[in-house]
This record gives sequence, C-alpha cells and structure tokens, in this order.
Amino acid sequence: MRKKIVAGNWKMNLLDEEVINYVVDFNSKKGEIESEVEIIIFPASLYLDTMISMPDWDIKIGAQNCSQHKSGAFTGEISAEMLRDFDYDCENLHYCLVGHSERRAYFNETNTILAQKVDRLLECELKPIYCCGEELEQRKSESHFEVVKSQIIEGLFHLDEKQILNLVIAYEPVWAIGTGETATSKQAQEMHQFIRETLKEKYNEEVANSISILYGGSCKPSNAKELFSQPDIDGGLIGGASLEVDSFIQIINSI
Ligand code: PGA
Repeated sequence: MRKKIVAGNWKMNLLDEEVINYVVDFNSKKGEIESEVEIIIFPASLYLDTMISMPDWDIKIGAQNCSQHKSGAFTGEISAEMLRDFDYDCENLHYCLVGHSERRAYFNETNTILAQKVDRLLECELKPIYCCGEELEQRKSESHFEVVKSQIIEGLFHLDEKQILNLVIAYEPVWAIGTGETATSKQAQEMHQFIRETLKEKYNEEVANSISILYGGSCKPSNAKELFSQPDIDGGLIGGASLEVDSFIQIINSI
C-alpha cells in the first residue's frame, strides 16, 4: 500500500502571527479530518520553529529548499545537515521539497543540482519530495513525457533501489501552478502512470508501485476528489489552497 499524502506548500507567504493563527485554527478543526493520510506543511524555513513550538502540533513539517552543498561559504543557504539538526530536537521535520518549478525557473536549478540536493537530504535521512513537470510550450509541442522523463532520470536515477524508496515524487505541470488551470484528471493520471512506468523500467515493479506520486497545480476542494480518485495519484502538493485552513482540510478529506 502506498502512503497517501496531502502537503501544503506555503511558498513565501504568512508571517509569524499568521502562522500561529493558522496552527490554532487548524488544531481546533483537526476533528473534522476523516482521512487516513499523512499531512505535511512546508512553511518558510524561518517559521519552522514557530510551528513546531506550538502546543498540540503533531502535523509533519518540511522545508521548501536546502543547499546542494554540505557546508561552507554559501551565504543565505540552509544545509540538509542543519535541517536534520533541527529535526533531532523536534522529530517532526522529515521532508524537504526539491526542484519545485519556481526553483528551477527563478533560481536556475538544473537536474544536476537537484540530484545533489537529493543526495544531501538522503545522507541526512530526510525525505525529498522531488518535483517535476513540463511547461506549457512543452505540452503544446507534445514533448511533455520526454521532459518529465529526463527530469526523473537526471535527478533520481543515480540512486539505488533502497535509496529511491525514501522519496516522494510530485508531478506539477508548470502551466497549472497558481494559474487556476488544473490538469484534467485524465492528463494527470496519464503522466503519473508514465512516471511509474519509467520507475519500473529502471528499477522494478515493486519499487514503482511503492513510491507515492503527488499531483500539484491549482488543486482545490472542487477538483481534489476527482484527481485523488485516479489509481496512480497518491495525494497532492497544494499551494494557494493550503493557505486557508478550511480549504486545506476539505482537500485532505478528498482523499
Ligand atoms: P498551486 O501551487 O496549488 O497554488 O497551484 C502548487 C505548488 O506550486 O506546489
């Protein structure tokens, strides 16, 4: 059985007080959660500590990014080892996003750099959520399968069978992120199935069937159920709709 996951990617949103209010609100509504699902929230790194320090907070948290370097003169960066160091205290930080399309587009993160980030995280026993997805032009020119395949091969296929089982993949078509335009459940399922086939070709069926693959891109309460009902979609990576407790809980309950 693959793990079902609904994760909230807050990006560069919410200040300290808003994080506190969110946690209080979320905790008061926890009873409404009906699904057996792993919930993860990715706040800005500066507020990981705020979140974890809140009473009764038992939801997993993750970082949105880490450096590909182990340590050294890399001003502004946070290492995987620092994240693990933090986790030693709270035991709730297990995940880190890698290769979100905004990181690829605005911070020039290539598949080669992302492969290094994956390595740093796995060395520190943290789980990468490796994001992939094509741009609109690539879909229009029907090269989307090829693009996603090379993101998977170049970012992940240096890993051995045991290592790859410690990560999650998120398929996020760039044209659907923050645009209100969602991939249809058919388009999403088709790509998730393709990713699983790609994993099967390199590893084996058992590995391919064990890795959770999340969908992201304008996922909201109105479309989550349909997306999550697809056989190869194991949950979602939610941006905008995770910033509101009520809509996030509705999405969680759609699984
Ligand atoms: P969105 O973002 O749900 O706001 O489209 C998803 C993401 O970027 O992870």
